[in-house]
Order: sequence, then C-alpha cells, then structure tokens
Amino acid sequence: VIAFFQPKLLAGRRVLISAGPTFEPIDPVRGITNHSSGKMGFAVARAAREAGAEVTLVAGPVHLATPRGVKRIDVQTAQQMFDAVLPLAEQHEIFVATAAVADWRPAAVQLHKIKKDGSGSPPSLSMTENPDILASVAKLADSPFCVGFAAESEDVPKHGRAKLLRKGVPLIVGNIGPATFGLDHNALLLIDADGEREIPHNDKLSLARELVREISERFEKKTK
Ligand code: CTP
Ligand code: CA
Repeated sequence: VIAFFQPKLLAGRRVLISAGPTFEPIDPVRGITNHSSGKMGFAVARAAREAGAEVTLVAGPVHLATPRGVKRIDVQTAQQMFDAVLPLAEQHEIFVATAAVADWRPAAVQLHKIKKDGSGSPPSLSMTENPDILASVAKLADSPFCVGFAAESEDVPKHGRAKLLRKGVPLIVGNIGPATFGLDHNALLLIDADGEREIPHNDKLSLARELVREISERFEKKTK
C-alpha cells in the first residue's frame, strides 16, 4: 500500500545492488565471514523497486526474504560476487555496493578438514586479497553510476572521502553510529564532491527510500 504512494523516481532504470557478507571457506567445515546482515542492501533493493526500477540483487549468505519484484542472485565468496556483478554491471545504469565483501580469503581452500596435530600450535592461514568489486565496476568503459558504502570504526568523514577518491565513485555512504550490523535502524552520512549531508537516524527502509531519492537526483543531474 505504501509502495503505491512512492514517487516513481527510477521508472524504467536498471539498478544493480550487492548486499550482505561474503563467506570465504578455509576447509569443508570452516570459513571467514562478517556481521553484515544484508538488511540495508535489501532495503535499498526494495526502495529502488518501489521507485520503479528494474532491480538485480547479488546477495551473499543472508537470511532475508527477496523484496517483491526484485531479481536475486545468491553467491558465497567475494570472487563469486565479482564474477556475478562484473558481467551485469554495464547492463545497469546504477550500481549500489552495500555488500561487506571480505577483503581477504585463505590462499588455498583445504580439501579436507584441518585436524589438530597434537602439538598445541595452531595452523597458520596464508591469505590473499580479494578483487575490489566496486572499484572494478567504476573503472569499466561504460560504468554505471556507482554508489559505495563505507564501513568504518572511526572518523567516517575522513575515511569516507578517501574512499570516494580511491575508488573513483561519485557518492560514498557512511554508516554513522558505532554498531549498526544486524540492527533495523541506522544513520547515514552522504559524502560527495560537493560536501556532506546526514540522513538522520531512522529505520533502514526509510533510510533506503531517502537514499534512493538522493541517488536518483544525482543520477539525473549526471545524465542531463
Ligand atoms: N567493496 C567491494 N569489493 C571489495 C571491497 C569493498 O565492492 N573487495 C565495496 C563495498 O561494497 C563498499 C565499498 O567498497 O561499497 C567500501 O568498502 P569498505 O570495506 O568500507 O572499504 P575497502 O575499500 O575495502 O577498505 P577498508 O576495508 O580497508 O576500509
Ligand atoms: Ca573492506
């Protein structure tokens, strides 16, 4: 019912969204992941769909229902997310990277479960860096309008602005407030070339709707 009253700011636009954590296996029974719930990304998918967009959602392992009318692709690892997102990116006009992608993965996945060897000394894990999905999409010849999120534990404005420049994207969204993982509410800091704007504390769907308005405004300005 509420969806009906949302202005169709993204009518006919194609929006690609990455969401959730990734899971990087160590061996058949263990892996490395993080506390991302995927809630913000799924809320953005729902809000973009309400705004009339065709939405593709590439999701890491999360326990969330797919928003109505959204096309969902499930992946586990950062490499799988990269492999799913990159070929789709140029078919979309907007890419919102909400995923908490693991920065590193074990260099080799053990075929069998690693066993204690009785020595009392733990195994050492050799790690390798995962590809940066957002930076790679932003570098494409026909890249969509890219929006990044910044997960920081301190100084969101400083680190957020550094990411804006480093990744070459027009908009970075910082989570403000210390622990927002898994919660249903948050506050956001929008960082772009013009400055900063806060979207005050609210539930994630309200934040997502406001963010979709901000993204569509910037996207229209850019394409004019
Ligand atoms: N991101 C991505 N692929 C990665 C790492 C990050 O697409 N391998 C995206 C995230 O989805 C987010 C943005 O880049 O939109 C910033 O992620 P963040 O983890 O905050 O920044 P990093 O560049 O990974 O730097 P660091 O973790 O060291 O702060
Ligand atoms: Ca990171």
